[in-house]
Amino acid sequence: MIHGFRVRIMNNSPLLSIRNLTITFPQPGGKTVYPVVCGLDLDLYSGQTMGLAGESGSGKSLSALAILGMVPNPGSVSGSIKFRGQELIGLSTPEYQSLRGSKIAIVFQDPSTALNPVLTIEEQLVETLLQHKTLTRTEARCQAIESLKKVDIPSPEKRLGNYPHQLSGGMKQRVLIAMALSCEPDILILDEPTTALDVTIQAQILDIVELIQRMNNTSILLISHDLSIISEISDSMSVMYSGYRVESGKTETIINSPKHPYTSGLIHSIPKLNEYKTRLSTIPGSQPNPAERPGGCPFHPRCSNVIQACRIQYPDYIIENEHGFACWNPKDSV
Ligand SMILES: Nc1ncnc2c1ncn2[C@@H]1O[C@H](COP(=O)(O)OP(=O)(O)OP(=O)(O)O)[C@@H](O)[C@H]1O
Ligand SMILES: [Mg+2]
Repeated sequence: MIHGFRVRIMNNSPLLSIRNLTITFPQPGGKTVYPVVCGLDLDLYSGQTMGLAGESGSGKSLSALAILGMVPNPGSVSGSIKFRGQELIGLSTPEYQSLRGSKIAIVFQDPSTALNPVLTIEEQLVETLLQHKTLTRTEARCQAIESLKKVDIPSPEKRLGNYPHQLSGGMKQRVLIAMALSCEPDILILDEPTTALDVTIQAQILDIVELIQRMNNTSILLISHDLSIISEISDSMSVMYSGYRVESGKTETIINSPKHPYTSGLIHSIPKLNEYKTRLSTIPGSQPNPAERPGGCPFHPRCSNVIQACRIQYPDYIIENEHGFACWNPKDSV
């Protein structure tokens, strides 16, 4: 269900600026490489929540990992990622370590594997704090309790003694958000923060994220394949397809008048409460394997607006009134 939109005034220089980010992997067993993220541009402003949408395999998580220098081997990263004007690509491991957690924090996609099963929540939270801050153990424990309170965990003192398996999925996700926020990062990256959770818990997590964003003015990069979640709490959004950014702009503009047929298809596949349908709309076909992309626009075999040019050349990224899209035959409105 799509809720109200948020609009905030941004100042001019982005906190995080990504240009022409390209991530390649070698072909299995072969000498050639193929790109899984292709020339991505993104700007995240201070205090802004930006959504990154796209079907499974479109390159969302790898783009997030690239920000923190965590693309797995043998992946190769090129382009530019600037945080407060400083280039991140090429930083040394200790430089990345001092950035991770304290300046830019991430909650990884799979909460069940993100917590260490053999350590209590206290051990994990306190350790994170001690790594990044000059605190005594007692001070770190008090801060850990405060962090758990911020994400609405009842009886936080008691929860500190729990092991991850003693927590529900929603509770684990809150602990991970608390952990990510404990060092007061400027940017919080949430990769599919609500995917494994039921709808009520999803709503609670989104409320917490919104509250934290407002209280701390944290910039948030919210990654989700679910446009209804992105439309609920993001100011701006970008849509990825097969490694490419296909559309970007203010969330309200994109949801109300998408230009790219792929974005339009994603919007039409969102269930609406006031509409009875026996089956939801889907986009026919599936995203190509990045090693076997068709020529031209990789969406063309699935596109209802396809024209000859789409089969031949990838379209330029056009930006009109802050609304950007890469399409030879865009939609005028939904
Ligand atoms: N370690 C790796 N080696 C080779 N290819 C990879 C590796 N990790 C990811 N890929 C490929 O890169 C592409 C993008 O992956 P990524 O995990 O960024 O997608 P995603 O948009 O986050 O998808 P999901 O919604 O499923 O999380 C996929 O085609 C994936 O198979
Ligand atoms: Mg992912």
